[in-house]
Amino acid sequence: MSDLKTWDYLRREAKDRLEAGGFVDGDQEAQWLVEEVSGMDSAELIASAKTFASVRATEQLDTLLARRLIGEPLQYVLGSWSFRGIDLMVDRRVLIPRPETETLVGLALIEAQRMGLQPEEVVVDLGTGSGAIAIGLAAQLFEVAIWATDVDSRALEVARANVAARGRMSAGIQIVQGSWFDALPHELSGRVRLVVSNPPYIAEDEIPELPPGVIDYEPFSAIVSGPTGSEHIETILLAAQDWLTDDGVVLIELDPRRAKKTHTYALSVGFAGAVIENDLTGQPRFLIARR
Ligand SMILES: C[S@@+](CC[C@H](N)C(=O)[O-])C[C@H]1O[C@@H](n2cnc3c(N)ncnc32)[C@H](O)[C@@H]1O
Repeated sequence: MSDLKTWDYLRREAKDRLEAGGFVDGDQEAQWLVEEVSGMDSAELIASAKTFASVRATEQLDTLLARRLIGEPLQYVLGSWSFRGIDLMVDRRVLIPRPETETLVGLALIEAQRMGLQPEEVVVDLGTGSGAIAIGLAAQLFEVAIWATDVDSRALEVARANVAARGRMSAGIQIVQGSWFDALPHELSGRVRLVVSNPPYIAEDEIPELPPGVIDYEPFSAIVSGPTGSEHIETILLAAQDWLTDDGVVLIELDPRRAKKTHTYALSVGFAGAVIENDLTGQPRFLIARR
């Protein structure tokens, strides 16, 4: 019994260990880790501050801290992350959904409204990973047919779990495996009104510039496109010509260094108009290409 520690003690101990390990957000991370192992939210933890944690929870916290202290991303350690207010399961099979992609979904919803998207019309999330984009869209676009694709079967396991966890809200999402548009049934050719995608867009020689932890933990094939970084984006923009309706739109997240080049490419393969939108840090991050 004497080894038992209170939740408050465990939280402070975790904070100290994280800060000693150089984590500037040690206080916040300790809070989230303790919430995870206790199953309590912040208010419940305050009320239970002087309660003793079980040995099992204490050991589990120690395991999570050890993973975090060697540099594993917090999102994988926690096993879930919020995307547009929706809690998604994440692990090393999928890219951690980023704030930029939340903005991409916001832009797609504005576009859907501008287009007057109707129930049963077809929207596609290419390279769905955790399912973040498809689920973010489904939360607002009721009764639209959303197809979520990925080439990676392990990523699709996570997407399926996340879609299932949303219940009826994501009932309109179909998950299919294959490379970009090849995953879709042929009947959808010429019927897709909106494509939203965050494909891999890092060039091979840019890998050393990535923040620590990214290439060590996140799936390589979710991040790196190839020698130029534009390979996948160009494949999608070109193939989109066969799949979109006459007024169809593609929204793609991209590397700001290649925004201008991608804009030019979109016009060269047949889009009538294209604009680049900035992310929240003011970087040119998204292409909206309209037929
Ligand atoms: C940058 S991640 C985006 C994941 C998720 N959409 C998000 O925004 O968090 C790119 C995704 O594209 C998938 N991908 C890579 N190559 C692909 C291909 N040829 N066809 C379909 N998906 C592919 C990866 O498996 C990965 O899940």
